[in-house]
Amino acid sequence: MTDMTLRRYLTQSALDPNLIFLLEDIASSCRVIADHVRNGAFEGNLGSANATNIQGETQKTLDILANDEFERICANSPHLAALVSEEVEEVTWLKDPEAGDYLLYFDPLDGSSNLDVNLSVGSIFAVMQVQSDGDRNVLHKGRYQVCAGYAIYGPSLMFVLTVGGKVAGFTCQHGTGDFRLTHPDMKVPAETSEFAINTSRYRYWDAPVRRYVDECVAGEEGVRLRSFNMRWTASMVAEIHRILTRGGVFLYPADSNNRNAGGKLRLMYEANPMAMIIEQAGGAASTGHTPILDIAPTGPHQRVPVILGSRSEVERLITYHTTERATAQ
Ligand code: AHG
Ligand code: MN
Ligand code: MN
Repeated sequence: MTDMTLRRYLTQSALDPNLIFLLEDIASSCRVIADHVRNGAFEGNLGSANATNIQGETQKTLDILANDEFERICANSPHLAALVSEEVEEVTWLKDPEAGDYLLYFDPLDGSSNLDVNLSVGSIFAVMQVQSDGDRNVLHKGRYQVCAGYAIYGPSLMFVLTVGGKVAGFTCQHGTGDFRLTHPDMKVPAETSEFAINTSRYRYWDAPVRRYVDECVAGEEGVRLRSFNMRWTASMVAEIHRILTRGGVFLYPADSNNRNAGGKLRLMYEANPMAMIIEQAGGAASTGHTPILDIAPTGPHQRVPVILGSRSEVERLITYHTTERATAQ
């Protein structure tokens, strides 16, 4: 299986050649970004860039560099019409849009607070298509994604992709630089005893989230009758990669501190791509009330509550949210 390179995998599929060009350009961007991340200390790229992005967040030098590499490399794709990046306020149009052209949504560097402490970071992307000639609307539901994926810059560089159907993981082979298929059919186990949430926000949480986490923490003595483990890496890519490997549930819910902003994570380039990957791997992704992929977007940088991972746990959280809403009415 490891003889299967990303290029062979893509060319053996029935994908539009223009989408293959784009996916190869995305993979090349990730390879180049991995080198910048690895060499951050030598290239003077650790630390803050003394700039803020549209979300009001401090940008790291590598956030900007990673964005620029995506722009530079993917601009080679002849049918890529526009880029929507976490680090750029406006949509970047590369050509007059024609029906079937591609739209690329990406988080150039996810978990960038982890850079200076040398923990895993990643890049997240999704691709959608222009609906008709001249159509400059980029705000489509996640259900319209034609593919989604991420790169994880961890102990090894991996590129994880779904074009619908299976979720495939490719590991970059040191030396050749090839992405080789090492994880042909990544699945989220249906059941789990591991959850991921930033518990320092406990005081802000709504009742359904408190109930869920309290019940996990109560372990064998509580209603769940079993022990749970907890992880939080502050890098969504690393959390999702762990969930695709051994199961689990990830929450970044709306809470009293982030509700006015809509939540924390961004719909178009964080929640939607990860939701597609998790659903294709047999898991589920919801706000607590609505499947992430069915949200009608209102802006390119819109934030949403995110609950995703093993199906039974996500369904339990949806039930708790529904019960709470019914009780409140
Ligand atoms: P980014 O680095 O692209 O801004 O994303 C960070 C996100 C996500 O990766 C992670 O799950 C979350 O923010 C971490 O939030 P906390 O700071 O609350 O831990
Ligand atoms: Mn991010
Ligand atoms: Mn980012």
